Amino acid sequence: MSPDHSSEVKSGERFQFGENWNRFLSVVDEDRIREAEATLRQMLDVESLTDKVFLDIGSGSGLFSLAARRLGAKVYSFDYDPASVACTREMKRRYREGDVDWRIDEGSVLDADYVKGLGQFDIVYSWGVLHHTGNMVEAFANAANALRPGGALFIAIYNDQGVISRYWTLVKKLFNRVPLSRPFLILLHAPYLLLLRFAVRLLLGRLQLERGMSMWHDMLDWLGGYPFEVAKPEVVLEFFLPRGLELKKLRTCAGRMGCNEYVFR
Ligand SMILES: C[S@@+](CC[C@H](N)C(=O)[O-])C[C@H]1O[C@@H](n2cnc3c(N)ncnc32)[C@H](O)[C@@H]1O
Repeated sequence: MSPDHSSEVKSGERFQFGENWNRFLSVVDEDRIREAEATLRQMLDVESLTDKVFLDIGSGSGLFSLAARRLGAKVYSFDYDPASVACTREMKRRYREGDVDWRIDEGSVLDADYVKGLGQFDIVYSWGVLHHTGNMVEAFANAANALRPGGALFIAIYNDQGVISRYWTLVKKLFNRVPLSRPFLILLHAPYLLLLRFAVRLLLGRLQLERGMSMWHDMLDWLGGYPFEVAKPEVVLEFFLPRGLELKKLRTCAGRMGCNEYVFR
């Protein structure tokens, strides 16, 4: 563990996302990889990424880095959590061992000098990450600075649900700062996070989780996912539009709990 990361975890300021990603590796299969490729093709409006350079900020499991690489991009992945970095490396070992066009590193998007040193990219991808850094606005700026002129920025940011988001922020803080509270928080929220959501998925015929591993581990990820910030679409647009970026796609979670996805150019 990097000293900063481990001290943040020890002081209850940060959730260890990477531990959960390790479990995800066991459910990765060809279908999931193809789905990830399809998402990138659809959101970026491309058939292939040949000749593109792709930066995956907060690569987590490494699934989307792998998808970008399979679509032909040269990929640079980094993550702040050493266990996430290990997952991305394991993904590469399994599917692209020895591939010199996929580089993986440990680093933080909040380290402006580190990000600057990576150069500029045709595609900067950061799904569900910038709101978990502890300083979302600084993370926005550093991610945008890694874009080559004409490049695409694809990000997903938690929706701001007002008082509901404030409630989840408190739950997440407690989950990380007071480990003894965890069984209680799980018991309290499992009926909603497991049973109700399972019933809704069953009704909609969507039992397979798009990005997750299992409803149980997704629940732990949700309860523990801290630092945590949220933003309404207008706040995200107000940040990026004056910086010369144009909104190409917006896929919202329809006001519910979840992420809004944005593609800027
Ligand atoms: C919810 S996961 C998303 C993973 C992946 N992008 C995906 O879509 O599956 C958030 C990831 O962001 C990483 N992260 C948090 N803070 C970060 C930072 N300052 N710099 C880079 N990565 C960070 C976490 O370690 C974790 O792997």
